[in-house]
Amino acid sequence: MLAAADLTFTRPERHLAYRFSFTAVPGEITAVSGSSGSGKSTLLDLVAGFLVPHSGALDLDGRDLLPLPPEARPVSILFQSDSLFEHLSAAANLALGLPAATPRADRDTRIAAALAEVGLPQVAAQRAGTLSGGEQQRVALARTLLRNRPVLLLDEPFSALDDVTRRDVRDLVYRLTRARNWITLLVSHHQDDIAALATRRYVLADGELGLVE
Ligand SMILES: Nc1ncnc2c1ncn2[C@@H]1O[C@H](COP(=O)(O)OP(=O)(O)OP(=O)(O)O)[C@@H](O)[C@H]1O
Ligand SMILES: [Mg+2]
Repeated sequence: MLAAADLTFTRPERHLAYRFSFTAVPGEITAVSGSSGSGKSTLLDLVAGFLVPHSGALDLDGRDLLPLPPEARPVSILFQSDSLFEHLSAAANLALGLPAATPRADRDTRIAAALAEVGLPQVAAQRAGTLSGGEQQRVALARTLLRNRPVLLLDEPFSALDDVTRRDVRDLVYRLTRARNWITLLVSHHQDDIAALATRRYVLADGELGLVE
């Protein structure tokens, strides 16, 4: 279980104060909604380690995450778009999800398997910048498969996609979360995404997360 308890953060220059408490469990998608500017991305940045809280606790199965720098946190992140290096091939982008010491043959096998798992076995050599938006999000998801960290943070990951692609990518996130037993935290404005995916739901308002029963 991922648990935050009274995780506080302030931006004094903006008179903003946050106090986040939540729990999220493996194999399920926990949604966070809230108006624009309410602090959703701030919350994900605190979990990912890009921001440092002033007080409070953040742990995964009892292990304190706060001392860990971002690269050592057991976390993958997927943003709305721009998750890939456009000038690199899909395969080269995926290779970045693997430890540098991975032997080449092993690396190529794992990259091929990850692309097949997201339904894109044909794009390995294609430059990421030439992939469609939906394909880019699938490749980014394939990279999280290779990283295989227990926590997946999603910040409006479907927003740039048309309705059909959106449903496909959404289904993929749902399937992977269950199959890999990930703890997935989904930030979304879209109530239909939340209804389709989330088993647990928070609303962020006035700097705090409220559990929707
Ligand atoms: N580096 C910064 N310096 C000052 N204020 C910031 C900084 N980053 C974010 N903020 C402010 O913090 C508030 C929360 O921002 P945040 O990005 O977390 O909102 P959000 O809920 O993700 O919004 P959206 O739905 O539009 O993405 C906003 O008012 C924003 O302007
Ligand atoms: Mg945001």
